[in-house]
Amino acid sequence: MAAVPSPADFPTIRPRRLRRTAAIRRLVAETRVHPADLVLPMFVKEGLTEPHPIASMPGVYQHSVDSARKLAVEAVRAGIGGLMPFGIPEERDEIGSGATDPDGILNVATRAIRDEVGDDLVLIPDLCLDEFTDHGHCGVLNADGSVDNDTTLERYAEMGECLAAAGADLLGASGMMDGQIGYVRKALDETGYTDTGLLAYAAKFASAFYGPFREAVESQLQGDRRTYQQDTPNATDALREIELDVAEGADIVMVKPALPYLDIVRAAADYSPVPVAAYHISGEYAQIVAAAERGWIDRDAAILESLTSIKRAGAGIIATYAALDAARLLS
Ligand code: PBG
Repeated sequence: MAAVPSPADFPTIRPRRLRRTAAIRRLVAETRVHPADLVLPMFVKEGLTEPHPIASMPGVYQHSVDSARKLAVEAVRAGIGGLMPFGIPEERDEIGSGATDPDGILNVATRAIRDEVGDDLVLIPDLCLDEFTDHGHCGVLNADGSVDNDTTLERYAEMGECLAAAGADLLGASGMMDGQIGYVRKALDETGYTDTGLLAYAAKFASAFYGPFREAVESQLQGDRRTYQQDTPNATDALREIELDVAEGADIVMVKPALPYLDIVRAAADYSPVPVAAYHISGEYAQIVAAAERGWIDRDAAILESLTSIKRAGAGIIATYAALDAARLLS
């Protein structure tokens, strides 16, 4: 006959008590994602009249300037914190001229969205040349095909001034050139844009998860960005970049991608005297949506779990293509 266990053998401390009902779990939740934490990246394509779906990112579109305005209004209604527009020009060239043309698509879209929503959301257009260059790199090239850091800085400064003039609150400096934050900060200050801030893509890793984004912007990139974006194995380099961007005047530092780099998000949060953001990127979004379409995972639950984990790791701000879904789920 089996011995009857004595109550003394049972645990007196039972963590399961605080998991018993949804109300208890809600009460003790340490991390809450709020729509105001979220930034919605969006694509605006020159010459479009109707939104055009992006195959590898179901639910995400290339927008016309008009539909971008509507999306911005929807984002305001959903209580989302910000918008991150990317431009897709009709013409591309070696130096990315469209980026510094006041009539170029990203400048036009930034003005249009600002005009539509006023100060009701934070507008963070992308400050990088890759959508505008015909070779798809984030900067201008040397004769040998390598990216010329310092000449690129001059282009970023010019682009930054254009986007500031168009009404950006913050510029999403995503190019990973050395010194870009300090150089653009100085240029903005010298031209009177002292109130335009910089969101530094401080730790941006060369990632396989950018694939769907490259479809979204019709990237012409051959090869990769490994000579300027960071290498996956290296946390030290990421922390060094964050430290430099803070020292150069970044107003917010961002880690990208998010889920595969949560250790970096945590380290950034522990170190940084400025707010920390993380970018839940195209491939992270596409994985969830593709698996959910096959019935393999629950889309809504996977989105909320991902965003909550990114916030728990230390990112107060999250850029995500699922911002509108999340806002709906959270309300
Ligand atoms: C480049 C840039 C990239 C993304 C935003 N800006 C990636 C890249 O091609 O290197 C990717 C965002 C995403 O995948 O969602 N300036």
